[in-house]
Amino acid sequence: MQTILVERRERVGIITLHRPKSLNALNRQLAREVIETLKAFNADDNIGAIVITGSARAFAAGADIEEMANLSYAEFYCDDIFAPWDALRLISKPIIAAVGGYALGGGCELALMCDFIIAAEDAQFGQPEIKLGILPGIGGSQRLTNAVGKALAMDLILTGRTIDVHEAKAAGLVARVVPSKELLQTALEAAHTIAGYNSPAVRMAKEAVNVAFETSLNEGIRHERRLFQAAFATEGQKEGMHAFIAKRAPVFRHR
Ligand code: CAA
Repeated sequence: MQTILVERRERVGIITLHRPKSLNALNRQLAREVIETLKAFNADDNIGAIVITGSARAFAAGADIEEMANLSYAEFYCDDIFAPWDALRLISKPIIAAVGGYALGGGCELALMCDFIIAAEDAQFGQPEIKLGILPGIGGSQRLTNAVGKALAMDLILTGRTIDVHEAKAAGLVARVVPSKELLQTALEAAHTIAGYNSPAVRMAKEAVNVAFETSLNEGIRHERRLFQAAFATEGQKEGMHAFIAKRAPVFRHR
């Protein structure tokens, strides 16, 4: 891997975006490497949750402007350069974005593709594509709108302004705000907690929440009910409930 660092700590897989000279700008190689690593973590029974992070200065400052600047419509259309990111939707294990510094354009969109965001006090979010004569292209117009509502999404996407972490937290974009020095530790603790639970139930819970953005309330509740029933086909459900009744800690086997 040349654009990311990959690490495993117990049952947590960590991807650190690592293109420091360009503030972790998302180029094609980085997209390939992130997706390849996520797929490997997803297929690995020894990994229960994933953290994606960047540097203290930038989670990612967007898609790589140098790489894109001279592309033609035909190249962008035929190569569908952002399509690899669609594979993130196929990752069934939880992904936490640990965001410090800039999360702009594609960087903000990558954070939004993760399941939730834990942000450092110096984090900044924005979709400044309009200043480059373009618009968000990796789902920002949809996911940002889902996350913060139409008013703020329109404001950010149309003016290109950046918001600080407190505005992001108040708007529901960010789950938790922590001091910069505690960012990775907090994200890892959350990931370790998740990775310790009954893995099929964790994945079902992620699926159930995501269905809320794709269907009607009626269908979503029906989907949740089926997943809830399916949880009773897992060993982890028996272990979790019997451990509670026996007043001991559960020991989940992650299958
Ligand atoms: N692509 C390529 N290189 C980038 C980059 C990007 N998105 N963002 C920053 N860099 C590079 C800079 O060119 C600079 O390189 P050099 O040292 O070789 O000159 C280096 O990273 C450091 O950047 P700055 O000197 O600009 O640092 P700064 O602290 O003064 O400013 C910043 C930081 C405000 C983030 C500024 O770099 C910036 O505005 N970056 C661009 C943000 C942006 O427009 N993102 C959207 C990209 S388009 C997109 O993402 C489309 C989509 O929806 C997928």
